[in-house]
Amino acid sequence: MSQRFLLSLALWASCSHGNAGTAALSQSRVRCRASRYPVAVDCSWTPLRAPNATSFIATYRLGVAAQQQSLPCLQPTPQATQCTIPDVHLFSTVPYVLNVTAVHPGGASSSLLAFVAERIIKPDPPERVRLRAAGQQLQVLWHPPASWPFPDIFSLKYRVRYRRHGASHFRQVGPIEATTFTLRTTKPHAKYCVQVSAQDLTDYGKPSDWSLPGQAEALKRD
Ligand SMILES: *[C@@H]1O[C@H](CO)[C@@H](O)[C@H](O)[C@H]1NC(C)=O
Ligand SMILES: *[C@@H]1O[C@H](CO)[C@@H](O)[C@H](O)[C@H]1NC(C)=O
Repeated sequence: MSQRFLLSLALWASCSHGNAGTAALSQSRVRCRASRYPVAVDCSWTPLRAPNATSFIATYRLGVAAQQQSLPCLQPTPQATQCTIPDVHLFSTVPYVLNVTAVHPGGASSSLLAFVAERIIKPDPPERVRLRAAGQQLQVLWHPPASWPFPDIFSLKYRVRYRRHGASHFRQVGPIEATTFTLRTTKPHAKYCVQVSAQDLTDYGKPSDWSLPGQAEALKRD
């Protein structure tokens, strides 16, 4: 078994963690996230042991084999600590490998990160969460995150959590596919904190963070 293949296995299993033979791997903390799947993957890094880095070279390839063609991960400037992989290859059977090289006065050091796009999906939180009081019911409405490009094709599902003012715990409902939900247990004049989270309908990746709390849209009194 070649050394390269062993390295590939290590990458596949541990993603961002290095091993003894590849010291350079631990020199930057590199993260990638697909919050606008399948348009792009966005990556960023914190240079840990290269604080004086003057620039970064970010490239990626599909597959761990070294003979695969490397393409640039697009950076706004060479000094930027972020880059974008455009055109995500859907359901690839081989991982992407991102190579971030910090160029500093003493030389250069590279960090590698292997990932599969579907596993790093994490939508941004739903937006414009509104509460509409109607009698004893409270309707919650929201929009999918604007950054999610094709909500009609790559559908999202949602979870809603709510807590009456003064209560210690959230209650949670979902997943639901609609962008509205009606709470029927509302007490008259009680105030509620309501938040919504989005996740890819087919369970890839992670749920989004919780949205900002819903704002009262209009008050209807009987
Ligand atoms: C970074 O630069 C500062 C000041 O220019 C210097 O004191 C420090 O030793 C440098 N650090 C490294 C890791 O090169
Ligand atoms: C990472 O990129 C740097 C700079 O382009 C290159 O010198 C290095 O060989 C690459 N490392 C791997 C493992 O592909």
